Amino acid sequence: MRNLNQDTITQAVIARFAGTPDARLKELMTSLVQHLHAFAREVKLTEAEWLAGIQFLTATGQKCDDKRQEFILLSDTLGLSMLTVAMNNDKPAGCTEATVFGPFHVEGAPHYEHGADVANGAVGEACMVRGRVLGPKGEPVPGAVIEVWQADAEGKYDVQREGLDHAQARGVLTAGAGGEYHFRSILAEAYPIPDDGPVGDMLRATRRHPWRPAHLHFMITAPGYESLITHVFRDKDTYLDSDAVFGVRQSLIADWVRQPDGSYLVEYDFVLAPAK
Ligand code: BEZ
Ligand code: FE
Repeated sequence: MRNLNQDTITQAVIARFAGTPDARLKELMTSLVQHLHAFAREVKLTEAEWLAGIQFLTATGQKCDDKRQEFILLSDTLGLSMLTVAMNNDKPAGCTEATVFGPFHVEGAPHYEHGADVANGAVGEACMVRGRVLGPKGEPVPGAVIEVWQADAEGKYDVQREGLDHAQARGVLTAGAGGEYHFRSILAEAYPIPDDGPVGDMLRATRRHPWRPAHLHFMITAPGYESLITHVFRDKDTYLDSDAVFGVRQSLIADWVRQPDGSYLVEYDFVLAPAK
């Protein structure tokens, strides 16, 4: 195939994937080429802009290491992560909605008994978190495994702290006989996503802010139910309507209530969807 021009190249590239044995891979590659070419045509992409895009993606890859995943951050800030979550987590009415996973989950977090302080030295105002894990008919889900993780009062997750050798503000609990859980931690506060890399450059160039509204992350698993990856967001946060990664859902917002002793209490029941 020779002398391809702007009118014939797209079909020529698609034809080159015709022999892909995996039907899904063929569908993905065909559609990707169609949409990439359509984008370039629509904006009349210049060669300088093409090179700037390549340099941006190169810098994004170079920023990644075992603690930093700049490509996920890029996907998050472009809304692609939340779009994928929304398309793949259509749960029955009444079940707790899912939201973005984020880059700060850690496998193997410490297990805690009910009532324990998962902050484990993280800075922040004292807070109690409690609720139940239920099934769609309101039945308790005893033994559900509840993983929680959050940023500290300075907006940092433990994994972002150089030299810290133990988990802070993250842990795993097991729901009790009535599906109940409770633990102590620190007050969730708004924080900026890491913006010292190419994604931060993109946010600044487009006059976007990097802030996420205050939240706790949860991942809840139990046999017979779909795994749930979600957040609980703090009501009245300044950034609820402009989350840098588009993850807020109204049903996930709860009130952190100040107690007479100055600490906070948040209560949230999770409703798991039955396994498909
Ligand atoms: C987070 O909530 O931990 C998070 C989510 C997306 C990007 C960065 C951070
Ligand atoms: Fe977070």
